[in-house]
Amino acid sequence: MCGIVGYIGNQEATSILLAGLRELEYRGYDSAGIALLETSSVKTFKAVGKLDNLAAKVGSYRSSGAVAAIGHTRWATHGKPTEANAHPHGLTHSQVVHNGIIENYQNLKSTLSTPFLSQTDSEVIVHLFEKHLDGHGNAPDAALAAFRATLDELHGAYAILLVSELTPGRVFYARKGSPLQIGFAAGGCYLASSDAPLLGLCDKAMHFEDGQWGVATADTLQVFDANGAVVEPLFAVLPASSAAAQKEGFRYFMEKEIYEQPQVLADILTGRLRDGAVEFEAFPADWLRPFRSITLCACGTSYHAALVGSYLLERLARMPVKVEIASEFRYRVPVLDPEGLFVVISQSGETADTLEALKLAKAQGLATLALCNVDNSSMIREAAQSILLRAGIEKGVASTKAFAAQVMTLWLLALHWGQAKGLLDGERWARELAALRGGIDVVKVQPALHERIHRLSKRYLHGHGFFFIGRDLFYPLALEGALKLKEISYLHAEGYPAGEMKHGPIALADAGLFTIALMARTTLWDKIKSNVEELSARDSTIVAITPEDFELADDIIRIRAHVHPMLEFFEMMVVVQLLSMEIAIRLGNDVDMPRNLAKSVTVE
Ligand code: M6R
Repeated sequence: MCGIVGYIGNQEATSILLAGLRELEYRGYDSAGIALLETSSVKTFKAVGKLDNLAAKVGSYRSSGAVAAIGHTRWATHGKPTEANAHPHGLTHSQVVHNGIIENYQNLKSTLSTPFLSQTDSEVIVHLFEKHLDGHGNAPDAALAAFRATLDELHGAYAILLVSELTPGRVFYARKGSPLQIGFAAGGCYLASSDAPLLGLCDKAMHFEDGQWGVATADTLQVFDANGAVVEPLFAVLPASSAAAQKEGFRYFMEKEIYEQPQVLADILTGRLRDGAVEFEAFPADWLRPFRSITLCACGTSYHAALVGSYLLERLARMPVKVEIASEFRYRVPVLDPEGLFVVISQSGETADTLEALKLAKAQGLATLALCNVDNSSMIREAAQSILLRAGIEKGVASTKAFAAQVMTLWLLALHWGQAKGLLDGERWARELAALRGGIDVVKVQPALHERIHRLSKRYLHGHGFFFIGRDLFYPLALEGALKLKEISYLHAEGYPAGEMKHGPIALADAGLFTIALMARTTLWDKIKSNVEELSARDSTIVAITPEDFELADDIIRIRAHVHPMLEFFEMMVVVQLLSMEIAIRLGNDVDMPRNLAKSVTVE
């Protein structure tokens, strides 16, 4: 969720680092910083907000001579976007930049006596490094051993770059779960968390594997694996353009973001499942307990996530839930429960209608909570409490990974609340926990499934409309599938509760009406089956998304069989996302920037 860069050589380093960070700014931009190790002293610059603020702080400063330098652009997860929380983090002689999450940072911190300046998980790395090096001199080998000892203590995900005044001309690096690459050129050595900053500087790069770590100088590289064995560096040719590099080989950002969903779900769980309970860093364990009801308010895709949340909160926490479309809610003169919690859900945190709804609830004295993907956004600042969605920057206008993150976060919230009310016994909790973890695997795009959807999509480029239908949790998913399709394909699509079709829409059924049936095996199977049979009997063309055989389907997109409804939900979510995208691509549309739409709707 952050971007990191490094440089070792004799060239002027501030401009190299700032240019590299600009290529990564799309990943996170709530604060940034650089550290320049020239001969044997480090100079750091940090600033809150966009990179221009950091460039202004650097001003006319330029490095001269040999330098080892590191830089970071941040998308806050632990601690607010302040200068103190911006990377690099330093202690007496070293500085570190980190991308990822150190899950056990609080335990590690409690073992250290050195003073911490930030609220981040990352700062613990530099403290551990200096502790392990203390008393072992300043030979590069001692520093390498201290770096290794530090890595041995870290749990979680990371890409790390570290410099120390005791070892000039060197950058210590490590990768586990967060990308990191290195390239060499006549000008020196370049490191980055994606290819984009290396383009135009190096022809080839080594993409480190998980568990690899080591040290680099301007023209040498030592690589070790997780067991400490020496690894022979392997370099691959870099892509031709920066835009292509940002998309990391995918045709569109939307496609890349669909493929990123396993990482997003894993990031959401990181550090939140402790001692058999769900914990949120944002508020104390018993904060939710006194609320008598909950209102979820949002727009578009976020509204669909809210609907999913309402099923989960009712079921798992037995909470009375209302779901509101923000643009309707704000003008309705709503009657609010003074003892209720008002929750806004938003990718951007800037959607005008949702923001105004939040202000209205706040003005009426309600407790407020924002679930947003952008820290420091207007909603996060306005709400009493907030939970960051941890989806990373979403570039495609059609929301995909942010929706997955919203649903996952609402599920965690429902479990947290259910536990606080004592509703989840050991067996129930074990079942939910297994499903939470299983979700990460379920949203991994299987190449055969993607290929099947790609091939099938050519049959669905015409007709007079699509009906996505589902029941229970799969009804909001049907709404979301229809929204995805219409946003990027410009074809007419509706989402409908399957049981409602016979109350009117079935009049539209003929061979040119495409029914996309979300036929969950775990949830009301017999009911959805008979709803789809009714449509088939009226000649509607049926695409069944299901783990079961269904002979009336014209096409089946088969998902795996699951025991938990949320696993079926997440697997079907990927299918409807891919189906919409493949249809839109075949129609020649730019799925990242569909016509008439904007990523953030800051007007009414
Ligand atoms: O940033 P928000 O989540 O508040 O945005 C709400 C909607 O504008 C947004 O979800 C929109 O519907 C997307 N384009 C859906 O893909």
